Amino acid sequence: MACKGHAIPGQSYYYGGYAEYLYVPNYRYLVKIDIDPIEAAPLTDAGLTSYSAVKKALPYLKPDSVVIVYGVGGLASYAIQFLKHLVPYVKIVAVSRSDSSLSGYGVRAHYAVHPSDAGKVIRDLNPDGAAVMLDFVGNEDSAKMIPLLEPGGAVILVGMEGKSYPIPVFETTVWQYVVIGSNYGSISEMEEMVKFVKEHGIRSYIEKVPLEEDAVNNALNRLAEGKILGRFVITP
Ligand SMILES: NC(=O)c1ccc[n+]([C@@H]2O[C@H](COP(=O)([O-])OP(=O)(O)OC[C@H]3O[C@@H](n4cnc5c(N)ncnc54)[C@H](OP(=O)(O)O)[C@@H]3O)[C@@H](O)[C@H]2O)c1
Repeated sequence: MACKGHAIPGQSYYYGGYAEYLYVPNYRYLVKIDIDPIEAAPLTDAGLTSYSAVKKALPYLKPDSVVIVYGVGGLASYAIQFLKHLVPYVKIVAVSRSDSSLSGYGVRAHYAVHPSDAGKVIRDLNPDGAAVMLDFVGNEDSAKMIPLLEPGGAVILVGMEGKSYPIPVFETTVWQYVVIGSNYGSISEMEEMVKFVKEHGIRSYIEKVPLEEDAVNNALNRLAEGKILGRFVITP
């Protein structure tokens, strides 16, 4: 999580992203699961990252707080479900550009709106603004939501789409906003999250793809075009 030497198979300096088996140097890196491994696969990244981000948001939330979930995709689909179970008393406003994102997962939030409508919806819910923004985009556009936070509000920054993240100096200073970076999660959070998913029936949006060249390439192309709802899981 915060280890400077961390490595991701298939993404860092070694291969193995599509391997059927993975060598781990110690059993303490293994997490017992009591769910279908295909359902569990996206939990290691999308599930854990969202869970850890939501946990970081909890100290800022109280009854009737407004939470912005910006950028509705694979990670947000978990975050919205975790919020609903962990803090059922908050109001979740999912913000995304496309109707398909908003109707695909956004319907699970209390409100699902386009970025241009977010200000009005949030101020109608609480004139002071939102307590937290879970930012699953992290670019110049999502940073424009920061002034919609209430005094003392927090941004949990997860998405890494932009080169920069312009923080409004006046509002951030005067209203004492907090920006917290969030990277994956810890092993103990993984254990906690896997149990939580089982206990609360958290849903994974999954498409299965066989481990065959054409099928995988086709799925990767559809992923690049934004046509996969949730995650595809390669099934050997
Ligand atoms: N910090 C970490 O540990 C960590 C771990 C995993 C992933 N991530 C990052 O978290 C982010 C979200 O991951 P994800 O898997 O949920 O992605 P995803 O499935 O592609 O969903 C992101 C959604 O954000 C919306 N969006 C709004 N503005 C966007 C923009 N400028 N560029 C791209 N998408 C935009 C898109 O929906 P609309 O088209 O409806 O706007 C998209 O569906 C990514 O940046 C990813 O790299 C971070």
